[in-house]
Amino acid sequence: MRAKTSEIRQFILNMCRNKARNVAAEAARHFDISRQAAGRHLAALENAKMVDSSGRGNAKTSWLIPLIEQSWKFSLLGLREDIVWMENIAPLIADLPENVRDMWHYGFTEMVNNAIDHSEGTTLAIHFTRTALDVGIWINDDGEGIFHRIQRLGNLYDPREAILELAKGKFTTDPTNHSGEGIFFTSRAFDSFVIMSRTLYFSHKAEQDDWLIDDDRDIPGTRVFLRLDNNSQRTMNSIYSQFTEPDEFTFSKTVVPVRLARHNGEKLVSRSQAKRLVSRFEKFKTVVLDFSGVEEIGQAFADEIFRVFASSHTEVELIPMHASTEVQQMIVRALAVR
Ligand SMILES: Nc1ncnc2c1ncn2[C@@H]1O[C@H](COP(=O)(O)OP(=O)(O)O)[C@@H](O)[C@H]1O
Ligand SMILES: [Mg+2]
Repeated sequence: MRAKTSEIRQFILNMCRNKARNVAAEAARHFDISRQAAGRHLAALENAKMVDSSGRGNAKTSWLIPLIEQSWKFSLLGLREDIVWMENIAPLIADLPENVRDMWHYGFTEMVNNAIDHSEGTTLAIHFTRTALDVGIWINDDGEGIFHRIQRLGNLYDPREAILELAKGKFTTDPTNHSGEGIFFTSRAFDSFVIMSRTLYFSHKAEQDDWLIDDDRDIPGTRVFLRLDNNSQRTMNSIYSQFTEPDEFTFSKTVVPVRLARHNGEKLVSRSQAKRLVSRFEKFKTVVLDFSGVEEIGQAFADEIFRVFASSHTEVELIPMHASTEVQQMIVRALAVR
């Protein structure tokens, strides 16, 4: 069967997500069409100003160009996230599917509300980009910086521990007015979620389920980046339901990447590392411990989690996931002592 025009063009657009070389040849091979035919599809996307290219022949590179690009600056004093949403962002995505608009509404207003309520900055800068495939938004405040604020108000030893707390969820420095769900659910709803603040970088990508901690440039305040495909099949409900028990509607389950308890590639061996990991686990009914990226753990570390914490918190169910054979053996040993 011959491929439809829309399929071929979608394929080309997908390739152009990251600057790609020789896109027409790739499309020709994939769909078993002539190089000329593929070239005409690429030219159509160039003419529609969705794609730009440079170079010729086999050295031609192509990339997506923004269809809409817009920036704003707001004073944070008295700012309201629902009004910023309604007046500025909603009109630019009014034609997207409802589930996608719902996720933007949720994530955008949560992140702007954070800048208003937590940053203690004066100015908010927002940058919006829409391509043929996706929408990306930067939200940038000039406040204290999220990781340093969490370190200061949460009495953490190192600002990097803030990333572990955010990944667990239900973390807030203002429990009277907040519940600590915004970053947890927003990071999981979007295809790409990045926070940069000072020299720390926190990223979650849907397709690889990966969190990174990196040294980067020194970024003042807090900068959040959200990206979502315009045809994403995800819904806010499907995200919520991953973290609630069946038949309940409260946030009672979390998935914690264990490797975030580790700094600078150190091994997970000590009781204090384990205590940092299990702190606030009692706020959940179920905690899935994701061991990916952790090849081995020490006996004291395993004992502190699976015997000491587990026996004093029988109401919390601990479920290890992606555990290597070495890690599994340590867990079994800790359980046996119990
Ligand atoms: N822009 C920001 N500037 C400084 N701190 C922030 C910012 N955004 C979030 N935070 C910190 O991260 C915590 C978690 O944010 P979030 O997940 O949205 O939960 P909540 O807003 O309910 O506290 C906040 O309590 C606050 O300490
Ligand atoms: Mg919030």
